[in-house]
Amino acid sequence: MSTTQTLIPATLIPGDGIGTEITAATIEVLDALGAPFQWETCVAGLAGVTAFGDPLPQATIDSIERTRLALKGPLETPSGGGYRSSNVRLREKFKLYANLRPGKSLIPGGRFENIDLVLCRENIEGLYMGYEHYVPIDGDPHAVGMATGINTRQGCRNILKFAFDYAIANGRKKVTVVHKANIMKALTGIFLETAQQMYKDQYQGKFEFEEVIIDACAMKLVMNPWQFDVLVTTNLFGDILSDEIAGLVGGLGMTPGANIGEQAAIFEAVHGSAPDIAGKGIANPTALMMAAAMMLDHVKRKDLGDRLRQAIDDVLNKDKVRTGDLGGTATTDQYAKALVARIKG
Ligand code: NAI
Repeated sequence: MSTTQTLIPATLIPGDGIGTEITAATIEVLDALGAPFQWETCVAGLAGVTAFGDPLPQATIDSIERTRLALKGPLETPSGGGYRSSNVRLREKFKLYANLRPGKSLIPGGRFENIDLVLCRENIEGLYMGYEHYVPIDGDPHAVGMATGINTRQGCRNILKFAFDYAIANGRKKVTVVHKANIMKALTGIFLETAQQMYKDQYQGKFEFEEVIIDACAMKLVMNPWQFDVLVTTNLFGDILSDEIAGLVGGLGMTPGANIGEQAAIFEAVHGSAPDIAGKGIANPTALMMAAAMMLDHVKRKDLGDRLRQAIDDVLNKDKVRTGDLGGTATTDQYAKALVARIKG
């Protein structure tokens, strides 16, 4: 790293399960690249509960408040009962309203080739606000489960503006607005109506505008994913579609995500803590590395982000060094070393 380079403070949350392994590999590669980050290492998720009795400790919140920038490994969340997802709490706390999920083919020869899609998901409203309860009837405490979804005009505007501006800034040709306004007329009707209005008032002609209902969109994505370019949708639909898109481009181990708001930006691998392979040294760190490349773009070091993406392409496709989930035999560490060799070579 150049001694004159100004370092950018950033929070590092290695995460649970395979998190520590893929984070170590990512930091090794970022160091080789001379990435300009000065890390503050913090815990959350199960590691937060173990260290501080809290899945989102105050020290972690304080660090992100200072740095406004974080790289995060996967955080374990119990299903059903137990504590609330630290990921959801982080998004709410820092108002990270945009979840940006590029889906790009990294390895040729898969079921689908040459995919290059971007999904923009609303990240803090909709059915994920946690307004849920059970109604007990006749001695069954869980006789009825209820949830209330909320989408606000401003929340819709925020994510739509993000997606529309992203499309223009990145030379994208089409934005598809995904909704279910035929059935959930208010909850997703407000999203469609806001999109139509904003396009008409401010964005007309700057890109092609398309509307698709969520169920049709899910089918079209597997029939012909190349018809899409940028997709924008509400929280729950976006969560599901982003994993579908990850499946089109080689699985969760390859897919990064960014959570972006006015107060902070948090970059992450979209997969979970993979407890079935944790501690074995075989996890694929590509998703977290691709997230780190997005983080470099975000701090205006696209030059370094591009070098990292190129090294990943070379190692996967020329050196054919791949982890087990991609049919290879490399360990996490061997893969990281191959990347370092490419970056330094
Ligand atoms: P998961 O993504 O951890 O695992 C699903 C499958 O994919 C497993 O077979 C796993 O071995 C494999 N896999 C995932 N990432 C991989 C990688 N980098 N390399 C190789 N194989 C990989 O999903 P699961 O099992 O449903 O969730 C486990 C835990 O992770 C749960 O506590 C869940 O709440 C949490 N989670 C956290 C997320 C986050 O922090 N962003 C996202 C999704 C789940």
